[in-house]
Amino acid sequence: ANILLLHGPNLNLLGSREPEIYGATTLSQIDDAARRQCEAAGHRLQTLQSNSEAALIDRVQAAAGDDTDFIVINPAAFTHTSVALRDALAAVAIPFIELHLSNPHAREAFRHRSYFSDLARGVVCGFGAHSYTLAIDAAIHQLRVAPS
Ligand code: DQA
Repeated sequence: ANILLLHGPNLNLLGSREPEIYGATTLSQIDDAARRQCEAAGHRLQTLQSNSEAALIDRVQAAAGDDTDFIVINPAAFTHTSVALRDALAAVAIPFIELHLSNPHAREAFRHRSYFSDLARGVVCGFGAHSYTLAIDAAIHQLRVAPS
């Protein structure tokens, strides 16, 4: 199957960005590990990081026509702001998992609301870079038990 991993704004800075919150692992390390994990299970992985809400929406829309079976997304700050990115995921109706490195519920009140969680198959948060491993593992499992 084809899995799409999407990263929202400022996640290109992982490794140097507030490491006490987000850890020392870089985005390319995360993408490399996720790709190995998908390929070991017989799947393909595509990835995109963007600081642009429009680029993320365009990529989700494109996923409807490129045989994407499952989306794993860290919407980053757009989690708390973007009705438009939420609507794109609802429009394409591709199952997705929401994930976060930090635990937004243990942080500022403005991070407690997500525009994505109620549409997601599930949510993983709070485990740093390991959140990605857990989310990809869950996606692989979902593709087996509930592919669409
Ligand atoms: C984040 C949490 C968000 O609140 C924040 O805006 C981010 C990263 C996380 O992965 O912990 O940019 O999604």
